[in-house]
Amino acid sequence: MTVSVGIEAMGLAVPELYVDMAQLAEARGVPVGKFVEGIGLKQMSVPAVDEDTVTLAVRAARMALAGVDLKDVGLCIVGTETAVDHSKPVTSFVQGLLGLPTHCRIYETKHACYGGTAGLMTALDWIRSGSNRGRKALIIASDIARYGLRSAGEPTQGAGAVAMLVSATPSLVAFDQNVGTYANDVMDFWRPLYSKDAVVDGQYSVTCYLDALRGAYRAHQETGTGVTPSYSDRFAAIAYHVPYPKMAKKAHEALRLVDGDAAPAASFERQVRTGLLLPERVGNIYTGSLYLSLLSVLNGDPRALDGQALGFFSYGSGSCAEFWSGTVTPGAQAKVKALGLGALLEARRQLTIAEYEQIMTAREGLDTRVPGADPVPAFRFAGVENHRRLYTRA
Ligand SMILES: CC(C)(COP(=O)(O)OP(=O)(O)OC[C@H]1O[C@@H](n2cnc3c(N)ncnc32)[C@H](O)[C@@H]1OP(=O)(O)O)[C@@H](O)C(=O)NCCC(=O)NCCS
Repeated sequence: MTVSVGIEAMGLAVPELYVDMAQLAEARGVPVGKFVEGIGLKQMSVPAVDEDTVTLAVRAARMALAGVDLKDVGLCIVGTETAVDHSKPVTSFVQGLLGLPTHCRIYETKHACYGGTAGLMTALDWIRSGSNRGRKALIIASDIARYGLRSAGEPTQGAGAVAMLVSATPSLVAFDQNVGTYANDVMDFWRPLYSKDAVVDGQYSVTCYLDALRGAYRAHQETGTGVTPSYSDRFAAIAYHVPYPKMAKKAHEALRLVDGDAAPAASFERQVRTGLLLPERVGNIYTGSLYLSLLSVLNGDPRALDGQALGFFSYGSGSCAEFWSGTVTPGAQAKVKALGLGALLEARRQLTIAEYEQIMTAREGLDTRVPGADPVPAFRFAGVENHRRLYTRA
């Protein structure tokens, strides 16, 4: 018997601060068009000094878990490439702050931006195999994308987390089992152990992403219904990994060329545009970027998507990539709209470029930050005491 497995609920957390990309372009002396149209970003999230991968993960998870009995969660995986410790997983902090049961299996996964997908794929197989014994999985993709001030990657930063409750009663998206995988040892993006900033061979990373997309997409077709012209027409929308919105546009054109489409850009508005409405206001959230695009489709697409097929492409530098598909569950769009994601973004505060630079510099010393005397709001990073990271609880 085939078990229907997929996402039952989702949650999003974004920092309460952002910069305007036109202002950043002006401050860096580059044409505004380069950041806003060339990169495709309007606003970029900036984490405050009391926000980190843990606090973003917890806030996203609390949204996804509203009304859920925590006893039903038997697996929790946090995918991240901006962990807070070389040994203790982000997931342990999350388990404590959320109050997940002690019999819940918890761990962290790392493979650049693919880490969250690694967790999702494990959860899907855990449920399909029956090892879950009726329980659900909580998969969280949480990251702070940081390339550093005045670097080529600066306009492709961001921060945020997406949480997904995965179960055999999916009320948002049910996934097909056919997953096309493509792995290739490349040096396109990495973050050495001694550095808080990522190192990237930017133009090469775009090439690697597109090679991996073609490889994973072909693999998905070959192990599924077979390679057919215009294969991707079956998808009402495709959610791509979005390090920056323009990358998804490039990806879509490359995919349609694989399909043999003579006008590869023509389907962009129909299949990709609504998936970029949230990413273009948040920026890069690494592991969560693809899932932010999924939220964006469900939140912003004006069409009724009930029962429609979606495509998904995940890419993690280094590299590993996957292409797979799923079906929108009836009522999914209303459920996502009720999360109030637009209001969440509206409630943020815009930083001046000077404030942004100050915060970026202050973040360099966070791992040794001494707790202050002032009270910190719930689920925030309070500082480090005796080598122990402290977080405020509810
Ligand atoms: C993305 C990245 C490679 C861009 O690098 P860059 O050399 O500074 O930027 P480019 O010169 O390529 O310009 C970016 C885009 O803006 C366009 N552009 C430049 N000036 C412009 C202007 N005035 N108006 C409109 N568009 C403009 C360019 O044509 C280019 O578009 P294209 O990619 O469609 O050709 C860089 O920001 C980076 O390294 N980011 C991190 C790595 C990453 O996200 N990789 C993704 C794969 S995982």
